[in-house]
Amino acid sequence: MTLVEKVGQTAQRGTSSRSKTLSEDLKQAVREGRVGSVINVTKAEFVKELQEIAVKESPQGIPLIFARDVIHGYKTIFPIPLGQAATWDASIIEQGSRIAAVEANTMGIRWTFAPMLDISRDPRWGRIAESAGEDPYLTTVLSKAYTRGFQTSDLSNPTSMAACAKHFVGYGAAEGGRDYNTAVIDNALLHNVYLKPFKGAVEEGIATFMTSFNELNGIPASAHAYAIKQTLKEQWKFDGFVVSDWNSVTEMIAHGYCKDEKEAALRAAQASLDMEMMSEAYEKNLITLIKEGKFTEAALDKMVASILRIKLKLGLFEDTSFNEDTSILYAEEHLKAAQRAALESVVLLKNKKQILPIKASSKILITGPMADAPLDQMGTWSFDGDASKTITPVDAFRQDNSIEHQFIPGLHFSRDSVTNAFPAVIAAAKKSDVIFFFGGEEAILSGEAHSRADIRLPGKQEALLQQLSKTGKPIVLIIMAGRPIDLSNILSDVDAIMMAWHPGTMGGPALKDLLMGEAVPSGRLPVSWPKTVGQVPIHYNHKNTGRPASKESFVHINDIPVGAWQSSLGNDSHYLDAGFEPLYPFGFGLQYGSVEYTDFKLSANEMGMQDSVHASITVTNRGSYTEQETIQLYMQDEFASLTRPVRELINFEKIVLQPGASKTISFTITKEDLKFYHNGKWITEAGTFNFWISQNAQSGTPEKLTLSE
Ligand code: GLC
Repeated sequence: MTLVEKVGQTAQRGTSSRSKTLSEDLKQAVREGRVGSVINVTKAEFVKELQEIAVKESPQGIPLIFARDVIHGYKTIFPIPLGQAATWDASIIEQGSRIAAVEANTMGIRWTFAPMLDISRDPRWGRIAESAGEDPYLTTVLSKAYTRGFQTSDLSNPTSMAACAKHFVGYGAAEGGRDYNTAVIDNALLHNVYLKPFKGAVEEGIATFMTSFNELNGIPASAHAYAIKQTLKEQWKFDGFVVSDWNSVTEMIAHGYCKDEKEAALRAAQASLDMEMMSEAYEKNLITLIKEGKFTEAALDKMVASILRIKLKLGLFEDTSFNEDTSILYAEEHLKAAQRAALESVVLLKNKKQILPIKASSKILITGPMADAPLDQMGTWSFDGDASKTITPVDAFRQDNSIEHQFIPGLHFSRDSVTNAFPAVIAAAKKSDVIFFFGGEEAILSGEAHSRADIRLPGKQEALLQQLSKTGKPIVLIIMAGRPIDLSNILSDVDAIMMAWHPGTMGGPALKDLLMGEAVPSGRLPVSWPKTVGQVPIHYNHKNTGRPASKESFVHINDIPVGAWQSSLGNDSHYLDAGFEPLYPFGFGLQYGSVEYTDFKLSANEMGMQDSVHASITVTNRGSYTEQETIQLYMQDEFASLTRPVRELINFEKIVLQPGASKTISFTITKEDLKFYHNGKWITEAGTFNFWISQNAQSGTPEKLTLSE
C-alpha cells in the first residue's frame, strides 16, 4: 500500500442521509483508495455502488465499512437507551440491538455508533437520553449486552455489526450539563466511575471506540494519550480501532489545544486515534508529518492494521454482499420485542390511592401534547424510524372499542403555548372519570446539543394540568421525555405519574396495557430524579462529606422560624428549599401490588481477602398481580484511604413473582466487588463494609461485614 492508500483507510467520509444522489467526488475518492469508511449512506444501491468501486476499482481493492447511528433500533424503534436502562434487563437490550442489526443489515450497514456509555448525572444534559444513566455497574452490564446484541459472538456473521463504545471519555461530566462542555475528572473518579463501562465493553470484545467532543482535564479527548493509548490500548489490550467523533480532530483548534489542522493531526495520531470522522486533518497532513519525521510510517501501519483487522473480522474481504430482504423490517416479532421493551421501561413513580390500574368501565379523557405524537414518541437518534409505523397511545385506545374514551389534545406539541383549547378539555374532563395526560418533551428537546437549563414540562403543559386539577377528577400524568422532568410545580396536582421516556414504535400499546392493568409496571429508575433542577447534579453514589445531612435535622425553608438563630438549622450538607434527597431515588419504581423483602442476611460477618460471603434475601409477592422485581445489592466501604460513596450498586437480579410466591435470592460477594482505584492501581482494603439488598438506592437496612487481610 502507498502512503496515500494507508492514510485513505483512516478516512471516514459521509454523505447527507437525505441526499438523493452519490457525489462524484466521493466516488472518485473511493476509486483512488482515499476512503476507509462511509457514514450515513441510506440507499442500498448507493452502498453497493460505492462498495463495487472500492473492491473492483481501487488500487488495493479494500472493502469499505458502512456506518450509521443505529442507536435504539433501525426501523423498529425501541425505547431510548435511558428508557431501556430502566428495564434493568440485559436480555431486552441484547434482543433489541440484535433486531436493530438485522434490520440495518438490509442496508449494508455493518458498523453502528452504539452503545453510548457515558455516565450521566445531570438531566440538563440532552444526551442523558442516549445513556444508561448514572451508575457504572448497571451501565457496564448493559454495555456488554449491547455488544453481544450488535456483534453476536462472531463478527463475520453476515448480520453482525461492529459496535462502538462511545464517547471516550468523560463526555457526561460536561460542566453545567451543557453539551460539548469542559470535563474535569480526577484520575480515581475516572477509573472508579467513567471508565468502568468502557472496560466492560472491551472485555465483551467490542470492535471499535469513538472519542468524545469534550476536553478531559485540559486535553481534548481525541488527542488524549492517557485515555486512548495508555489505558485503552496498552493497559486494556484493546485490539479494535478508535474513530474520532464528527470533526472532533479539527475542533481541537477551537479548543485552543492545536494551532492548526497539521498539529491536530499530529496530536491525534500520537494519541493513537486510528480513524478521523469527516474532518480531513489526517488526509491533508499525515504524509507530510511522516516526511518531516514528526510521525512514522510504522505508527501509521499500526492504525491501518487495526482498521483492516476489524474489516477482516467482519468478513468483508470475503463477501461484501448483504441481505436486502426488507420484508423483515417491522417484522411482527420485532414489534413484539419493541413493545416488551417499552412495557418494561415504564417506571411508575406515583400512584396515590392506587388509582392505577384504571377499571375498564371508566370514562377516560385522553389529553396532552404527547398522546398522539408519532414522531416524537420515537425520541432522539431515530431518524431511520418511520413515524407512520408508530402506534401512539391514542391509536392504541382507538383500536380497543371496549374502553370508553375521548381524545382532546389541548396542546399540539410539547412547547405549545396556545391555550384556546383549554375550555374544551376542562369541559370534557368534568364529564370523565379519569384524565390521562400525556405530557413531556418533543424529541428535538433531547439528545445531542439539546441541553436545557429549565427541565420542567415545556409550553403550557403545567397550566393545563393545574386547570384540570381544579376539576377534582383524578389525573394520571404519563411523561414521554428524554430526561427526568422537574415536577415541582405540578406534583400535587396529579394523582399518578408514569415515566415512559420516549418509548418508541410500540409505546402506545405498552402504555395502554399498563394503564388498564393488562400488564404491570416493572421499570426502575436508572437515574436519580431531582425535586428541582437546583439539586442537579445529583446521584445516589455520592460521598458522605464531613457533615452529611439527615432527615432529623432538616428544616424546610418554609418552616424556619422568623429570626431563627444563625446555627439553629443544623450545619450539614443540604438545600434549605430542597433538602438533600432526590424526589425519586436511583433504582426506584412502584408496582401495582406489593412485594415484601425479609430475612436479609450475610452468610458470615467476617471475611478474609481470599474468602467469599453470600448475601441473601427472601422476596414475597403479597399482592394479586404477577410482579417483575429488580432486587438490588449495594455496598459501602465505610473507611478507606480514598473516601468511598455512601452506596455502590454491585449486583442485581430481576425476577418474576406470581401472586403469593416467595423466592430467596443470593448474591456472592468477593473482594473483587469491594475494590477501588487509587494512586494508579486497583486495591481492596481491609475494614468494615455495609451491604443492602433493597428496592432502590435509599431503602433497606444494612448488614455489616468486616474484611480482614
Ligand atoms: C455525532 C455524535 C455521535 C455520532 C456521530 C455520527 O455528532 O456525537 O454520537 O455517532 O456524530 O453521527
